[in-house]
Amino acid sequence: MAKIVTFSIDGQKCMAEEGQYLVDAAETNGVYIPTLCNMTGVPPQGSCRVCSVKINGKLTTACTTKVSEGMEVINESEEIQDLRKAIIELLFAEGNHFCPSCEQSGNCELQALAYRFQVLVPRFPYLFPERDIEASNPKLFKDHNRSILCKRCIRAITDERGRRLFAFGKRGDRIGISIDTKLAANISDELADRAAEVCPVGAIIRKGRGFAVPIGQRRYDGQPIGADVEQAK
Ligand code: SF4
Ligand code: FES
Repeated sequence: MAKIVTFSIDGQKCMAEEGQYLVDAAETNGVYIPTLCNMTGVPPQGSCRVCSVKINGKLTTACTTKVSEGMEVINESEEIQDLRKAIIELLFAEGNHFCPSCEQSGNCELQALAYRFQVLVPRFPYLFPERDIEASNPKLFKDHNRSILCKRCIRAITDERGRRLFAFGKRGDRIGISIDTKLAANISDELADRAAEVCPVGAIIRKGRGFAVPIGQRRYDGQPIGADVEQAK
């Protein structure tokens, strides 16, 4: 049986199984730690830094850190909240995120975090990069304007033989997600649905399924991201 450890988040006493990732352990204790590149069931990689917390005085990522006995976590200080907000603003400034015309509006984790962190005008200049949309796959669109390069699609989408369908293509500021055209040529409906689902923004979109869930009934239309975790407390 797994050992139970006691730790604290913002002074609140918490308990979890030893070795559990902090984001998950926090959730089971009714504490929301924001995430973007992380996804339950997919090995963490700690790239976006939105889940930054302070542990025993040191900044670190909650999605890659396992809980241990006596750990003292700061999740909601002004400094940490501003760091997270700055990361979200950077992502908006770096890509082309036109929420009003995006199929993912209301289901988008980046948009939902922007609302939660009350982002109005990013403190960074917009880059308005020139990026394309690719529609060669029979079931999926890829919109490079919206990709936040979180690698969730790369890590989560594999065929029945474990081969990855997505990868990074190009380099530097041209870097973007590419699909293995041969492997993905006959992608099943289930895997195509899953690919669109794992993308936290609207960078992977199913063809022929636009606005299946109407605006107003989408995941974050009714309540802010993280509210479900906090309400379960
Ligand atoms: S396409 Fe979506 S899931 Fe893949 S890296 Fe870009 S944002 Fe992440
Ligand atoms: S969610 Fe932890 S680094 Fe992205």
